[in-house]
Amino acid sequence: MKLLLLCLGLTLVCVHAEVVTKNFDVPKLSGEWYTILLASNLKEVIKEDGAMRAFVDSVEASDNSSAVLKIHIKINGKCVPVTLLAHKISEDAVYSINYPGVNRIRIIEAVYDDYMIIHFYNAHSDDTFYIVGLYARTPDKSPEFKEEFKRIGQKFGIPKDNVIDLTKTGRFCYLSSSLPKFSCY
Ligand SMILES: *[C@@H]1O[C@H](CO)[C@@H](O)[C@H](O)[C@H]1NC(C)=O
Repeated sequence: MKLLLLCLGLTLVCVHAEVVTKNFDVPKLSGEWYTILLASNLKEVIKEDGAMRAFVDSVEASDNSSAVLKIHIKINGKCVPVTLLAHKISEDAVYSINYPGVNRIRIIEAVYDDYMIIHFYNAHSDDTFYIVGLYARTPDKSPEFKEEFKRIGQKFGIPKDNVIDLTKTGRFCYLSSSLPKFSCY
């Protein structure tokens, strides 16, 4: 509704944002991303120092069959950069990745220049968990947008309480030339 009103008022500059939910043109997901929200059926994996509390920094995909994800993860207060390789394993935007505990990722929804929603899941271990993440091209999203994401999480069986907002903490991670290690703040 808001978008519609904006379009009526600004007809000349209105660009219709296309929400893509299948037949993803994955190369268009390339570039920088900010991690906004993470939701999981197993909340401890995305808590502070949780093994799956990963921040996606960028995606590089030159074709639809594979992609490189650069992420960082905070372990004992230190930022550790990790490069993940994703290989397409089905037409349904499902990829396998080389990350311990997570071995399938699926793209749920995207507006290529705005946001993407990704589902991560563990297909093998007994301690089954999955994570749904919201990533944006900008450092934050509106409270309304975040509420909408929580509803999407609920569709995957994740209660609203299990959604963590990562826009306020831990996003920044840089390699300081004066320090031998990665720093987080
Ligand atoms: C990726 O897939 C989309 C949708 O099928 C297609 O339009 C696009 O051309 C493909 N891109 C590349 C680089 O193969």
